[in-house]
Amino acid sequence: MDDIPSTLDDTISGHTKVRAGILLAGLLLCMMVIFASCGGLSLAKLPPGNAQRGARVFTEYCAKCHSIGPEQKIGPSLQHVGSQLTQQKMQLIIEQGLGTMDGGIVHGQDEADVIAFLETLK
Ligand code: HEC
Repeated sequence: MDDIPSTLDDTISGHTKVRAGILLAGLLLCMMVIFASCGGLSLAKLPPGNAQRGARVFTEYCAKCHSIGPEQKIGPSLQHVGSQLTQQKMQLIIEQGLGTMDGGIVHGQDEADVIAFLETLK
């Protein structure tokens, strides 16, 4: 007689476990999507950058606010940025902005090239 309720119990707790498992997996998936969409986990992989092209991208999009010498413009001089910031940090700043600097001024190949250029500024 004892068998019946205990089997029922097992069945119920088994279902509950499966459900909890599915819920947990769903929750994890949602969190991963949220993290990925704010760039919290990893940055998009960029194509290989060309520093020479990047210098032209810099002149066109960045030079009005940044010098690469001692001069101070709207933004800080990037004279030594190549030894101050990692490539990842540069990508993060360019994509997400920093303070009053907007993110997303350049994308894709232009972005990769301008980062390659910044890396030469030691
Ligand atoms: C409208 C002006 C403006 C433009 C255009 C601009 N920036 Fe900036 N940038 C700023 C300002 C202002 C800061 C400082 C933000 C802060 O620290 O609050 C900054 C900060 C930075 C920094 C961080 C420097 C450091 O030492 O912390 C990098 C790197 C940078 N910009 C790269 C770029 C690149 C590359 C471009 C072109 C794609 C660009 N910026 C275009 C205004 C600009």
